[in-house]
Amino acid sequence: MFAAANNVLHHAKQLMVSRMNQPAPNDLEAFWMPFTPNRAFKAAPRMLARAKDMHYETTDGRQILDGCAGLWCCNAGHNRASIVEAIQQQAAEVDYVPPFQFAHPKAFELASRIAELAPATLDHVFFCNSGSEAVDTALKIALAYHNISGRGARTRLIGRERGYSGVGFGGISVGGIVNNRKHFGTLLAGVDHLPATYNREQQAFTVGEPEWGAHLADDLERIVALHDASTIAAVIVEPMAGSTGVLPPPKGYLQKLREICTKHGILLIFDEVITGFGRLGYAFAAERYGVTPDMITFAKGVNSGTVPMGGVLVADKVHDAFMHGPPGAMELFHGYTYSAHPLACAAGLATLDLYRDEGVFERARKLEPAFAAAAMGLRNQPNVVDIRVVGLACGIDLAPIADKPGARAYAAMERAFHHENLLVRVTGDTLALSPPLIISESQIGELFGKVGRIIQAVA
Ligand SMILES: Cc1ncc(COP(=O)(O)O)c(C=O)c1O
Repeated sequence: MFAAANNVLHHAKQLMVSRMNQPAPNDLEAFWMPFTPNRAFKAAPRMLARAKDMHYETTDGRQILDGCAGLWCCNAGHNRASIVEAIQQQAAEVDYVPPFQFAHPKAFELASRIAELAPATLDHVFFCNSGSEAVDTALKIALAYHNISGRGARTRLIGRERGYSGVGFGGISVGGIVNNRKHFGTLLAGVDHLPATYNREQQAFTVGEPEWGAHLADDLERIVALHDASTIAAVIVEPMAGSTGVLPPPKGYLQKLREICTKHGILLIFDEVITGFGRLGYAFAAERYGVTPDMITFAKGVNSGTVPMGGVLVADKVHDAFMHGPPGAMELFHGYTYSAHPLACAAGLATLDLYRDEGVFERARKLEPAFAAAAMGLRNQPNVVDIRVVGLACGIDLAPIADKPGARAYAAMERAFHHENLLVRVTGDTLALSPPLIISESQIGELFGKVGRIIQAVA
């Protein structure tokens, strides 16, 4: 009897050990990878198996410096002990609780903690599971808010060219990245777009927020004049446009948007999926810029990318407008099976503790000048046509190879991984850097040293 049980255990262990040692799967066909040229990847895979702090480890054991915090999310660095333990404990305690009609305590605790970090009046949190869901949730709340307040004609949503607000139908409708829109039909009706805030001639090689460009917010007045304010529900912008290649807002731009929205009764939504939780040296970009929107979307950094989670911070005036019907009536017909998932909440609480205890946001603020100086040190490298840097985020534009847009930056990404043991992100011919906020000054030097060599190699 015991021998049989031991045998089973032995086999289970052997299976585990052989799985752990397996360097890479030998069939890459089934997984259709997101935002990836699948055939090119599967011909030369870049496999990451482990991670700790500032580094990934490849399946063949190489240490890779993480220049991107995964995908703008692992702000606390990788596999931090306190977050790992919180997730493990939570999984053992309660795996799942339905968020409709029931709840578990950590959801309320985390919502309160996030609200404490946000500007005053943004006191309510609606949880979901990603940035895309956060954006769609915010847009739906904006529409419903006007609808229940007797302003049902306010149905238009205003986004911005070059904006990235995820891949839901709401997000791609208000977003302004052509490839993310052009194959997917007519999208949401009634959407209009502000112009992008970037102008290379006026802004090239600016450190931080450019002087030129605040006037582009005035375009909202043109849009209001065209459609009439009574038809517009909300404006959504990323305070710093991240995915399109790091475009810091021009000085005064966000303030102007706020003023125009307030004047016309339009809700202002900041999409802080990237800027939230320290990327710009503050809990939210709203704090850095001293501008309070009516809603903030967040995801990624809320639990340092450990468990899928997103959410929307909602201003009291918007939330409270929903709280007037009969007490037994549901106020908002919206939510997700995994809203406020216990593992995501436990990870979020441990992450916010870590951010607080290690002063992670302040650390990012302090490192910003050194990071900016190291980034700008690359301005004379071959083909570098602009460098933008704000907080611990940097975009480096490379001159495209003739008739091959994106090829130079793609080659840089491959070179970084295979020759420099560095993870960088590319969008078009822009290299984007956004390391974990625990990066040291010497690692900043190492990071930009590697990037410099890569830029030379792809010249
Ligand atoms: C500003 C912004 N909004 C929304 C999203 C979408 O987030 P997710 O990929 O979690 O759906 C992203 C993703 O990078 C983003 O940068």
